[in-house]
Amino acid sequence: MAKIGLIGFGGIGIEAAKALVLDPNLTCDIVAFDRAESLERVPGPQVGAYEEILDTIGILQTADTIKLTSDVDDLAGCDAIIFTAGLPRRADQTRADLIGINVPIVAGITERLGKVAQGALVIMVTNPLDAMVEVAYRNLGFPSSHVVGQAGVLDTGRFTAQASAASGKPASQVDTIVMGGHGPTMVPVYSASNIAYTPADDVIASDKMAEITQNVRMRGKTVIQKQGRSAIFSTAIASVKMAKAYLLDTREILPACTRLNGEYGYSDIFGGVPTLFTREGVFPVEIPLTESEKAAFDSSMDAVKDILGDI
Ligand code: 2OP
Repeated sequence: MAKIGLIGFGGIGIEAAKALVLDPNLTCDIVAFDRAESLERVPGPQVGAYEEILDTIGILQTADTIKLTSDVDDLAGCDAIIFTAGLPRRADQTRADLIGINVPIVAGITERLGKVAQGALVIMVTNPLDAMVEVAYRNLGFPSSHVVGQAGVLDTGRFTAQASAASGKPASQVDTIVMGGHGPTMVPVYSASNIAYTPADDVIASDKMAEITQNVRMRGKTVIQKQGRSAIFSTAIASVKMAKAYLLDTREILPACTRLNGEYGYSDIFGGVPTLFTREGVFPVEIPLTESEKAAFDSSMDAVKDILGDI
């Protein structure tokens, strides 16, 4: 039985709870944390989702449990925590615009969390992601193997979907990866991407690749424009995929925002890189990049450093 904390029981947190309850390979005690005023609002989205999830556990007849709380102490003993607290961006905002609002929220909660939830893997989702992972790391006091950011799984899923559509092959035959910061400089890495075991750049024409790169980079904004709010379901599924890789010790290499220790020439900074997920924690993995991909990764890391300068 895994104890999983959801810090922020808004759009993404609620979808993550649903995904966890639906997962046949994971039985969990879910502790959903949010502000008391949100959890006390009746009718309200949080209490409503909670009641429905309770009923769904009954329908599925699983051993999962869910508890709503506004007390950080209830997160003690968590194996993994998905952290989404903070404001999502609007269509007229960049992720970086959220820094002034979300830094105090993330800093305040992670400071308290660090005292009660040692041993948990904390998966940061709040934007601007690259900066929020750093804020969480500084405040939690956890080892770098236990603080990670969700961005790469979502961005890579978007790249896979685009490459699948361009090639006419199902996503099940497409392996891709996006590296770098979670912003307009992110780097779809074609040299490490394959479609039906064929290098992606042999399958997709170069002008189409440029279009895909642009689409992937803009995808978060496109989703906001289409549904009027930031990506919720896909973000939740990406976060749960990471939590499961850790909890089930799958040893998958997933793209994630991970503390670098000399990899790719960077230290003491989080970067979006391939990351090994084990039950002992998460660890950056170095893969070969072409010269132009490395240059694009460096530019993206420069953009991350700029945002970090603001905290
Ligand atoms: C996105 O890219 C939520 O930042 C997230 O959609």
